[in-house]
Amino acid sequence: MGSLAVDLFGKTLKNPVMNASGTLGYGVEIEPLWPVETMGAYVTKGLSAAPHHGNPTPRVWEERSGMINSIGLQNVGVDRFFSHYFPFFVERRCPVIVNFFGFSEEEYLSCAKSIEPHDLIVALEMNLSCPNIKKGGISFGKEASAVHAIVRAVRGVTKLPLIAKLTPEVKNLVEIARAAYEGGADGLTLINTVPAAAVDVKNRKVPLKGGLSGPLLKPVALRAVHECSQAVPIPVIGVGGIMNTGDALEFLMAGARAVQVGTATFVDPFAMPKIIAGLDCWLDASGCADISAIVGATHG
Ligand SMILES: Cc1cc2nc3c(=O)[nH]c(=O)nc-3n(C[C@H](O)[C@H](O)[C@H](O)COP(=O)(O)O)c2cc1C
Repeated sequence: MGSLAVDLFGKTLKNPVMNASGTLGYGVEIEPLWPVETMGAYVTKGLSAAPHHGNPTPRVWEERSGMINSIGLQNVGVDRFFSHYFPFFVERRCPVIVNFFGFSEEEYLSCAKSIEPHDLIVALEMNLSCPNIKKGGISFGKEASAVHAIVRAVRGVTKLPLIAKLTPEVKNLVEIARAAYEGGADGLTLINTVPAAAVDVKNRKVPLKGGLSGPLLKPVALRAVHECSQAVPIPVIGVGGIMNTGDALEFLMAGARAVQVGTATFVDPFAMPKIIAGLDCWLDASGCADISAIVGATHG
């Protein structure tokens, strides 16, 4: 039997598969179907210092090969997550990655500062796709200098490993990845959704503008992982359109140390356990002893 275990920031995860932030609620929702600790780690919904209501409906829209969402970062707030939901992960001994965001540097800092290290917290994952309300709403993740500054500031207020989750909506993602690394990021999550719109022909309206996820995103995310994982010496977590075991293998071979699964769960709530079982079978069938051995297998 081969090993699916992977090392991430000094912790051993039982497998390299996690949910993508915002696509598995607060973790407890999946319980009637499968145990949350099936995954290598659970990634929280994006948390902020104060709770947020999010956007009015419609907030999701199905597309031919993906979905558009405009949830608007609805969340219960970081304090409520830790008082109400975190004990469930402690009881299950399920490692957690805490995704968080802010609409200003102060909000990022106050959220990161409030999260105490715990043996089950693998890392903080900073969502850099957020609009900076003090800079006219331009996303933190769009300019290398802004990425460097915000990562460096957050790095200064937490001892936890710090992952920068990047938006692909930039001219040169490798340059942004380098800025995050030089600002002190310990890892990268690639990629967040791309901007998209839906048109309702019957009502002649644009019912929703938001972020596109799902299979359409996969080749974009693969390129980001392939290029950035060779440009910076820190682990990359791949995300974008992973629907099955074959997709997960592609991301690992492109250079991802671990993968996250989002939209696939909306299509098939068992997608993640199936991908994990599929990776196990693939190890056996290919005679590979250790899943980590294929990470970056495509690098020249
Ligand atoms: C409904 C929904 C909510 C999301 N919420 C967040 C979030 O709170 N924070 C974040 O960093 N990304 C969020 N994302 C982006 C996903 O984590 C992921 O980067 C993206 O969906 C691409 O992966 P996928 O194609 O497997 O869904 C969300 C995506 C969806 C579909």
